[in-house]
Amino acid sequence: MIMKRTALPLLGLPLLSLALAVCISAATAAPIAYKTPDETAAFKPGPNVDVVKNNCTACHSVDYVATQPPMKDRKGFWQAEVTKMIKVYGAPIDDADVGKIVDYLAATY
Ligand code: HEC
Repeated sequence: MIMKRTALPLLGLPLLSLALAVCISAATAAPIAYKTPDETAAFKPGPNVDVVKNNCTACHSVDYVATQPPMKDRKGFWQAEVTKMIKVYGAPIDDADVGKIVDYLAATY
């Protein structure tokens, strides 16, 4: 049996140049400009709010703190949260500041 194998090489070149053209146009596409909305949440005033601002706004917005549901053991919850930020997410927080931050959070949120 004789196989006809001429069709494939003939198709190959146009397909390759098409793929190349798609890649080139994707790489040169104009960047999309967009503006994210301004942050609205801020830490409520209270003792040591500056310590909290300095340690808790580098990675995410204040909304993470302000949108926690009501809780029974506020101090225990915030102690665990601050410990998690340090141990799990690597937040560089001084040991001396942990108590101040937990007290502020438990009293305010
Ligand atoms: C090194 C970065 C970093 C710093 C600094 C940091 N966080 Fe976080 N935080 C994270 C990450 C990552 C998450 C999880 C994000 C997600 O799941 O989308 C998170 C989540 C949270 C949440 C949501 C609940 C949860 O457990 O996921 C709260 C509340 C929170 N952080 C509070 C704080 C407070 C309070 C501080 C200051 C003591 C702080 N964070 C500092 C990284 C950080």
